[in-house]
Amino acid sequence: MLPVLLAPSLLSANFANLQQDVLRCENSGAEVLHIDVMDGHFVPNITIGPLVVNALRPVSKMIFDCHLMIENPDKYVPDFAKAGADWISVHVEASRHLHRSIALIKEVGCKAGIVLNPITPLSYAYSAAEYCDFILLMSVNPGFGGQAFIQSFLQRASELRNWLDSHGLNHVNIQVDGGIKIDNAAEAVKAGANILVSGSGVFSGNLEENIKSLRASALQAREIIV
Ligand code: DX5
Ligand code: ZN
Repeated sequence: MLPVLLAPSLLSANFANLQQDVLRCENSGAEVLHIDVMDGHFVPNITIGPLVVNALRPVSKMIFDCHLMIENPDKYVPDFAKAGADWISVHVEASRHLHRSIALIKEVGCKAGIVLNPITPLSYAYSAAEYCDFILLMSVNPGFGGQAFIQSFLQRASELRNWLDSHGLNHVNIQVDGGIKIDNAAEAVKAGANILVSGSGVFSGNLEENIKSLRASALQAREIIV
């Protein structure tokens, strides 16, 4: 069974002191730092570019997971890799040549993920799965932190997990992003997600406690499955 990994989303961190928040996440045991890259075109918001990734790289040993919510992602994949990304994901709705985008991410030495918006057909994931290290199913519409979890994620994740397992692709991770909190983390894991992104769920209130509780509910869900 794939390990459960926690991925706090930098989007909800204190932008006036990113270093401190990144270190708090790492010291609380989070394995992955989820970095939301938005261009004001694919999504309405504008956030972080390679310069920030590069500045944070020496600060932390966490896996840097760059979620590209941008048009023409291939143009920027090499820049994010150079800046220190370990994982890069591109939206299937934004990449015209998805196979080429995935190949490019691997060529620059990163793990490759594809991302599906909440009602993008799962058939995209099925066609691309064999080339991917992970598949991110959005559980909110991308663009902003703090939105409500879209319940249909659960059905989609369990369909995708079953499909992957029955096609010899049990090494492909499923990532969930959007509205993940302590009260729904277990459900997401039961449905088949093993990489949990959480922004407001980690950064609102006590970060250390939140990470601990998220981990506990995720692992509890695992015990029930096993
Ligand atoms: C939304 C981003 C998410 C966001 C999640 O477009 O992709 O990563 O930070 O934030 P929460 O966990 O607050 O929904
Ligand atoms: Zn994200």
